[in-house]
Formats: sequence, structure tokens, C-alpha cells
Amino acid sequence: MSPDEFRHWGREVVDWIADYMERVEAYPVAPSVEPGEIRAQLPAQPPEEGEPFDAILRDVNAILLPGVMHWQSPNFFGYFPCNNSGPSILGEMISAGLGVQGMLWATSPACTELETHVLDWLVELLDLPRHFKSDSLGGGVIQDSASSATLCAIVTARERATAGQSNQTGVVASLTAYATAQTHSSVEKGIRIAGLGSDNLRLVETDDQYRMRSDRLRQAIAADLAAGRKPCFVCATVGTTSTTAIDPLAEIGPICRQYDLWLHVDAALAGTAALCPEFRFIHEGLEWADSYCFNPHKWMFTNFDCDCFFVRDRAALTRALSVLPDYLRNKATESGKVIDYRDWQIPLGRRFRALKLWFVIRWFGAAGLKAMVREHVALAQHLARWVDSDPRFERMAPVPLNLVCFRHRGGDAATQQILDRVNGSGKAFLSHTRLRDRLALRMCIGQTHTQRRHVEAAWRLIAEAADDLHSDKPSGS
Ligand SMILES: Cc1ncc(COP(=O)(O)O)c(C=O)c1O
Repeated sequence: MSPDEFRHWGREVVDWIADYMERVEAYPVAPSVEPGEIRAQLPAQPPEEGEPFDAILRDVNAILLPGVMHWQSPNFFGYFPCNNSGPSILGEMISAGLGVQGMLWATSPACTELETHVLDWLVELLDLPRHFKSDSLGGGVIQDSASSATLCAIVTARERATAGQSNQTGVVASLTAYATAQTHSSVEKGIRIAGLGSDNLRLVETDDQYRMRSDRLRQAIAADLAAGRKPCFVCATVGTTSTTAIDPLAEIGPICRQYDLWLHVDAALAGTAALCPEFRFIHEGLEWADSYCFNPHKWMFTNFDCDCFFVRDRAALTRALSVLPDYLRNKATESGKVIDYRDWQIPLGRRFRALKLWFVIRWFGAAGLKAMVREHVALAQHLARWVDSDPRFERMAPVPLNLVCFRHRGGDAATQQILDRVNGSGKAFLSHTRLRDRLALRMCIGQTHTQRRHVEAAWRLIAEAADDLHSDKPSGS
């Protein structure tokens, strides 16, 4: 593709994306395709000769679009959001255009230095502990996902607890780790990958609001020590996946310090709320954390993938992850004056992700980002009040930020029917969870373009579905 052809088709593609942004609200949020339906429309063999670009774009529209879940619809309320925004997409385009691989400072100094700079900005913007800034002993790095950040934290905790021995000889000590049943599954996955084993992950009891009980954490650590095991890692969550519960960091932190356990704080969705001073209560006690991560690709209007991971002691992280083959040696690394982010993550290669985050922060400004977060939280609080004032529904968890969990009092079957009816309508999309073994609807308000009218329309749909539970109308009519 020559630069002129690229210019022509690039403009077409930008128009395509802009048209999509304009139309996305009108599409059914969830696709209604059967398994295999998309593949059945694709040729079995790859093309021998190159094809015209407009033919490729036509197939995107005709074949792929019907099989897309419209995460960017303002009527998307499921899971946690996975947002994008104009400046983020444009930053991503330039990143792809430059196509740099920033594994070392030397392989693209701008890629490394912008990343360090933007992560330092985020420490200021979210008012994070100063020891996460690059001019301290710690610092930040962009990972693809919270799962990767957590894995890096677990491996570092493992190495700290065994003085680097696990990396040499394999995991020999009987290491234990602590989380709750509400902790994201990526923690158990990380525990498995790091060789600790699921059986050594203790699920600490939670209180009536799904928060880790620090007294139970202390007891679990003491029991493991008494049995000759070596506790090494705690994951506390700020904004759990099921209900956005906030573990009490100010209680958990001193316990970790007393027993020398690595404290990782996973704030994948909720961390963004700390842009606003009035929501910084979520980070009370964060100064105890050894590491922390949050995902701008969830609620900070930056397209997937982008997780920001901060550590208190960057030397501990790089000691755990660095292997230096001769072919990567270079003068800049040896000078000790640069950061080589390859040592801060699992893969070697890395994209120029900081670019899109920089575009987002500069385009919206702190004030613009705060305004969107405030609006989402306010809408979720309205929704919680509507739920509370409808006697057919029961709220299932507190709403500290932008997620409302509720159920129909008629039970699981009625709640499931409402979920199927709303999602089947294509007009809104919710997801579900199980809380104390009861089915709950989850409605998270955080899509970049969601406004009050979208939340009101979704609530009307839910209420109508509840009305029809008692009528003879078939579900989905
Ligand atoms: C609290 C929490 N942690 C971690 C994750 C995993 O995020 P990622 O897809 O970035 O690995 C999620 C995903 O929703 C989450 O809710």
C-alpha cells in the first residue's frame, strides 16, 4: 500500500469509525448470532492474490459488524466498561503508524520517557502515594492488563519471600497467598502461573458488604505460620468485580507490614474514580501498598489495552523479572540512567501505549475526565434510588461508585427472565453475578457517552420486563 493509497483508504477508515460512533447507539447492543455463523461466511482458504481494500471494508460491514458486541454503545451497562474515545483512537493510530517496539529505552527513547512521564502525571492526578513516582525508589509502567500487572506483583512477592531462590531452583518453600472469594479470577490464575498453586491461595472471609475481614486475614496468616508455611502475598481489591466492594486497605496494610507480606492493590475499574477528590476515600490506606494497578481501558476513556501498574520498589520488580541476554546489552542500559521497561513486564516487546493515554489526558484535561466520572457516579446513584423505591426489586450491595447490583424479589427465575428480556431487546445490555448464592443483575454506568436518558430508558425496560412477568406475554415480545 503506497502512502497515497494509504491516505485514501485511511480517510475512508476514519470516516468509517466516525460513522460508527454516530450510529452505535442505534445498533442492538448484543449481537444475535449463532456459534459458527460468522466463520461460515468467510472463505475457507486465504486469498492467493491481494484484494481491493473496499472489498475488505465491505466484509467488515456485512460479515463482522452483525457479530460485534457494541461495547461503545451508551446503552452498554454489562461487566465493566471497556471504553474508547476519539483522542484515544487517534493516539492508537499514531502508535500503529510509528510501529515502534519499546522494549528498551534505546529501542525508542520517546516511548519509554513519555510512559514514565504520563505515569508520573497519573500519580498526581489520582493523588497516589509519592513512592509510586519515578523520582522515588518506585515507579509506574503500562501493562496490557490488570491480570499481567497482578502476575508481575505475585512473581516479585515470591522472589522477595525466597530471596530470589524460586527463580533459580523453582518454588521450593511452601508459599501462601491471600485474597477473598470476591477477588478477580486473575489472582488465582497468577498464583497458578507463578507456581504457588491454587491450594495455597487462602480465600479470606468477607463481611456483609463483601469486603475482606482483616481479623480473618490475620488469623489465616498466623495459622499458616504455625504450620510452617511462608505467607508472601495479599491482594486487596478496590472495587471488586461483582459489587465494587472496597477492601479496608488501612487495616490490611499494617498486617502485611507486620508479617512482611507483599500487598498488591487491584483497582482495575475503580481507581479512575480517584481523579475526583470526593471519591479518594477508596484509596484510604493505599500508602501501605507495595504495588497498585488500575485500568484506563476500563473507565478512563482509553481503548484496550492499557493498565497502569505502580510499584514502591522498582528494584524488587526488576530483580524478579530481568534476564539480560547479550544481544540486548547497550550503552544506555549500562549507564544506569535509563528505564528498560522490558524488565517490568512478562513479554519482551511492548507497544507505544503511553501515546493514547497522553492524548486522552491532554484532550479532556483533568477537569474533563473528572466531569465524566462524576456524571457516571451520579447516574448510578439515581439508579440505586429508583431500584430502592420499586418494591419489586431488592438492591444486593452498596453502591460506592458506578455499579448497581439488584434482583427481582420473585427470585432467580424472575431475575433471569428480566435479564434475558432486556438483553434480547438489543436496547440495553446488563450482565449478572451471584451474591450469597442468589442471581443479581449488574448495571455499571461508565461508557464514555452514557447520559441520563440512556439510564432512564434502560430502567424503563427493566421495569417493563418486571411488569410482564405477571402477564401472559411471552418473554422477548
Ligand atoms: C477487579 C478486577 N481486576 C482485574 C480484572 C481483569 O482485568 P484485565 O482484563 O485488565 O486483566 C478485572 C476485570 O474486569 C477486574 O474487575
